[in-house]
Amino acid sequence: MNNFEDIFSIKIFRKQIDVDVVTKIKQEMNLCCDDDIYSLMQGNTFNQQNQPVFSDPNFEEDFLEKNKINSLREEALKNCYEYLNEYDASGSNSLTFQKSWVCFCPRDCWGHSHNHPESLIAGVYYFKTNNSKGNLRLWSPLQFKKGVSHIKYDIEPEEGTMVLFPGWMYHEILTNTGEETRVSIAFQVAW
Ligand SMILES: [Fe+2]
Repeated sequence: MNNFEDIFSIKIFRKQIDVDVVTKIKQEMNLCCDDDIYSLMQGNTFNQQNQPVFSDPNFEEDFLEKNKINSLREEALKNCYEYLNEYDASGSNSLTFQKSWVCFCPRDCWGHSHNHPESLIAGVYYFKTNNSKGNLRLWSPLQFKKGVSHIKYDIEPEEGTMVLFPGWMYHEILTNTGEETRVSIAFQVAW
């Protein structure tokens, strides 16, 4: 006899973005981003304590708006509405971008566990990856082990893929063991 019931599930959203949109995103990134941004993709000499480098270290800017990466903004919002629809939660409210930033993660780089509690949805688009090197690790909110969860789910950072998850969910970046610098674009969305 089974004494357990599953009462809630937590869904994440993961999608390989259509090729034509991926191409448009690349074009817009090439148009907008100055050499300073792209120079960060070369090598790992900028890396300090094996932590990622961000386009805005203060996390105040909306990189996508500032640099007119409209194809990615539109794709992200569309997918956020689809995500909410899955929960019958889209309603009549409009979603807004809170902020977005680029994350550069060279070889041996990893990212601390954190969440985005002020947002409804946190998301990431993998702009340039060597796939399967440095997973995104999502943590369950269940805390049966002295204040920390031990239930985790890993996602391979496939190039051209977008992942959405609840803003409260803790997550971290496992070590990039590949030679190439991974470039991802993260964002926060709220009502
Ligand atoms: Fe994050």
